[in-house]
Amino acid sequence: MSKKLIIGNWKMNPSTLDEAKNIIRKTRTAAGKLHNTNVVACPPFVFVFSAISKRDPDTLEVGAQAVSFEEDGPHTGEVSAAMLKNLGVRYVIVGHSEERASGDTDDVVSKRVKAVVEAGMKAVLCVGEKVRDEGGTYLEALKDQLRNSLARVPATAAKNIILAYEPVWAIGAQEAMQAQQILETTIFVRKVFSDVFSQNQAMKALVLYGGSVNFRNAHEIMIIGKVDGFLVGRESVNMPGFVELLKAVDAVAD
Ligand code: PGA
Repeated sequence: MSKKLIIGNWKMNPSTLDEAKNIIRKTRTAAGKLHNTNVVACPPFVFVFSAISKRDPDTLEVGAQAVSFEEDGPHTGEVSAAMLKNLGVRYVIVGHSEERASGDTDDVVSKRVKAVVEAGMKAVLCVGEKVRDEGGTYLEALKDQLRNSLARVPATAAKNIILAYEPVWAIGAQEAMQAQQILETTIFVRKVFSDVFSQNQAMKALVLYGGSVNFRNAHEIMIIGKVDGFLVGRESVNMPGFVELLKAVDAVAD
């Protein structure tokens, strides 16, 4: 049985370093009690350094929410993959719909994924349709988005990609997508990944769901949706909700 993976995407929260340290402390303590679940926290850049424990880097791994695809040089405001790797960051979220909405094309996403995996980190590649239509054309769009976001990524890097299926309409919403639909769509996402790389790589890949996951719905989505874990937004900075979510996921036996 492979372990579940829960990644907390803090987005632009919280406002102070003290609060950030508090969330990290509570998350690390909770993560230390789990048996079947790995936990990653992705705070804003300014809190990343203080989130990484040199003494115990494994109980709670740390990720970043963004990265430049450039190696170095005159790129004001940017942070490179090498910088993150050097700090001890192990994961980077790429292609989040909020970044896509502010201009990231599939090609840019693909460049970022490449930079992340080449630097020796794992890329958490987000894909998801904006809307669902009865005719199912969103599946074509989803397929194209995933294929194009992987276009620059060599097959050897497939093992360092984690897929996060996040339907845009379910992010920051009242309710998550229905667990049965999550099951169907994540099977589709894995199939596309298999077509791009190989069936073997696709069977090994982790496919997460993201979009309004909380401690109340996590258990059901795990059981019915059969996902490998979650990419969690709001609930990841909400204590004790996130701790409860981690316990609920860990309690699900495979
Ligand atoms: P949410 O965000 O859990 O707050 O819906 C998920 C995400 O954007 O990754």
